Amino acid sequence: MSINVVVLTGAGISAESGLGTFRAADGLWEAHRIEDVATPEAFMRNPGLVHDFYNARRRQLRDVEPNAAHWALAEFEKAHDGDFLLITQNVDDLHKRAGSRQLASMHGDLLSMRCLACDTVAKIQEDLSAAAVCQSCNQSGVLRPDIVWFGEMPYHLSPIHDALSCCGLFVAIGTSGNVYPAAGFVQTAKAAGARCIELNLEKTSGEHFFDDSRYGPASKTVPGFFDSLY
Ligand code: OAD
Repeated sequence: MSINVVVLTGAGISAESGLGTFRAADGLWEAHRIEDVATPEAFMRNPGLVHDFYNARRRQLRDVEPNAAHWALAEFEKAHDGDFLLITQNVDDLHKRAGSRQLASMHGDLLSMRCLACDTVAKIQEDLSAAAVCQSCNQSGVLRPDIVWFGEMPYHLSPIHDALSCCGLFVAIGTSGNVYPAAGFVQTAKAAGARCIELNLEKTSGEHFFDDSRYGPASKTVPGFFDSLY
């Protein structure tokens, strides 16, 4: 298959690895209010609470592994002839660990921190605190998780739009389609003439935007998916 392929993933692809999704009945946004932990205002108001939230999620990464869906996408990328871009809304590192390389982590990375004073981005494995000192500019109280919060501009939008504008196949996996701009990528791909397919555990509200929807757990629907197309 030599067509250009763009894949968009959301929390559903990591669910079977043991990471909770956001909008399920027992999801992250049931236990935490977005306004308390996922906005720049929340961080200004109570950085400790925001750090606690992301520290807990960063620690979880030590106990999880990529699942069959992450591995299958990395294998497809290696074997594929045409252009390929994997866009993920996830901030876990499971695609990277599975070996995906053409990866746009549009909502940031749990294992990175950013300095509000000097804009340096550095890797972080341990907990981050409001008192932490930036190794680059030596200021304290200026380090934040390198996560795109509500009200902030997602990363990599320019290469993402370039890829969507010339793709022949767009596949959305494990995302509810609630958060823009990612929720609108299917329409950009459609306008470019791409065949658009979604893989999800269940029907989504954006189902009508896709040419085809396939239901089931990602670990079952993703392996073999590309072979099933041709
Ligand atoms: P959601 O929690 O909104 O949606 C997860 C989707 O995964 C749902 O449609 C589920 O049906 C599906 N799902 C669950 N388990 C699955 C499985 N085993 N296999 C396949 N699908 C499964 O998560 P996202 O759509 O990723 O942003 O949420 C998008 C953004 O909203 C996140 O990146 C985050 C959040 O607020 C920020 O924090 C900026």
